[in-house]
Amino acid sequence: MRILAIETSCDETAIALIESTGSKTKPAFSVLSHIVSSQAKLHAEWGGVVPNLAKREHQRNLPTILLKVLQESGIKNKELRKRSTKKNLNSKFIIHNSILEREPELLAKFERYILPLSRPDIDLIAVTQGPGLEPALWVGVNFARALSYLWDIPLLGVNHMEGHILSALFEQDTKRYTLNPIPYPALALLVSGGHTELVLIKKPLQYKIIGETLDDAAGEAFDKVARILELGYPGGPAISQEAEKWETARPLGRPVSKFKLPRPMLNSKDYNFSFSGLKTAALYLVRDLKQAKRSIPKLTPAIAKEFQDAVVDVLVSKTMRAAKEYKVKSIILGGGVAANTELRKRLGEAIRLEMPNTTYYIPDTKQTGDNALMIAESAFFQAKQAKKTAPSKKLRASWKALRPDAAMRLS
Ligand code: KG4
Ligand code: ZN
Repeated sequence: MRILAIETSCDETAIALIESTGSKTKPAFSVLSHIVSSQAKLHAEWGGVVPNLAKREHQRNLPTILLKVLQESGIKNKELRKRSTKKNLNSKFIIHNSILEREPELLAKFERYILPLSRPDIDLIAVTQGPGLEPALWVGVNFARALSYLWDIPLLGVNHMEGHILSALFEQDTKRYTLNPIPYPALALLVSGGHTELVLIKKPLQYKIIGETLDDAAGEAFDKVARILELGYPGGPAISQEAEKWETARPLGRPVSKFKLPRPMLNSKDYNFSFSGLKTAALYLVRDLKQAKRSIPKLTPAIAKEFQDAVVDVLVSKTMRAAKEYKVKSIILGGGVAANTELRKRLGEAIRLEMPNTTYYIPDTKQTGDNALMIAESAFFQAKQAKKTAPSKKLRASWKALRPDAAMRLS
């Protein structure tokens, strides 16, 4: 089975093409092509992601990225020919009038580059349906709908957060990926720019959010504090680098300042989070230091370190408490903030110390950010599951029904 996956939920335009190669008992696949085009530099000028700018960029990028993916996969040269004119005109009419009518820039490129291609050998198209920025999601979903219609290929909507869970389970072995088995029940800590969630997974594809942020997501807090410290966007990697500077200065015996920031909701009985107060505390700390004529650039490593520690303390403590209460057999870390070295290390240490029989899955650092590989992986998993539960049911092209849903949740 070949799966083409499209991801446009935020500021990365990504397309991947995978081919399943494993057996029923040992799922595996090869990555034929996998491209992520980041718009981060563009949004950095505005200090964060601007939804309409993201929408415009996705429109510009999708058709050319798809061509590259097909070319890299070796499909384009071998299998693509000119389509017959009659079918072409009919498809053009439908795509023009009911699928891509609100994406004029995408439509123009679609007509020029994609419409002339003949159907590539792909069995399933997967697209991020939500959650994410709605204008950005619409572009990916409509592009996928147009492809599904044009090539008569089944279309599957994928939950972005499920993609982040799945990306932690795949293991690369040269060019092949295998799927690690999940010992159930499992607990996933999902930390991204838009979400902070603790998800209980009792069975395959059965998710229950047992805790989430009441205000800012962890990644959002990293981004906002980075802005306060004038470190640019995206803030997570920048804060993490500054915190490392503090760590490396310590053994050299240099005088290093340490500040105290709150650990919001650390001791609350539920599994919810709140990072907005922590961000405000960082803002006041910087304001007070400025008023006292202290040099912020010099103190930035110490502030970043304390902020990162505060976030990691709360995330690790709540995850471990939930893991014990639900007696989970595996803990999965996913989302953009899963790239944070301190979080990866501290959660791993806590598991080894407090629940040594629990399996810990973390994504490869190349796959923590948004990408289409995780969407393909998720679709692969869903399709496998569907075959198991209803082996006779065939997936049909379903371009009409799919819509992005900003409120789409895992449970
Ligand atoms: O999952 P993701 O790529 O996009 C969303 O779905 O939101 O997550 C992006 C978030 C950003 O807020 C970014 O600052 C954060 O992940 N991030 C990090 C690190 N790398 C990315 N946060 C902390 N430490 C990092 N190393
Ligand atoms: Zn994400």
